[in-house]
Amino acid sequence: MADTWLPSLVTDSPEEGFALAVKISRNSVKVTQPDAETRQKLRPDYADDADSLIAVSQVIAINFQTVAAANGYWRG
Ligand code: HEM
Repeated sequence: MADTWLPSLVTDSPEEGFALAVKISRNSVKVTQPDAETRQKLRPDYADDADSLIAVSQVIAINFQTVAAANGYWRG
């Protein structure tokens, strides 16, 4: 993993902030399961399961809270 994958928490817009929250969330999975083949194998397990998708959304929401706070909620 490159050292620069997360250079800043500051983004230009809430939408970009949300994309960053998704990136952070996905990276957490990558850190906890570095094997790409295993991740590919497990992908259908959560992609086809409503409860898993809600859990994934919750992880993104938690990270979005951090990103939003770091950006002062984009209040300008
Ligand atoms: C695809 C998010 C957990 C494996 C995706 C995509 C998103 C995403 C947004 C669609 C990418 C695209 O088609 O453009 C997340 C988030 C997670 C999570 C936010 C947890 C918080 C996991 C887990 C695994 C996994 C637990 C397996 C261990 C994959 C794989 C793909 C995928 C293999 C398809 C290949 C790829 O697009 O890289 N994920 N995911 N993900 N996810 Fe996850």
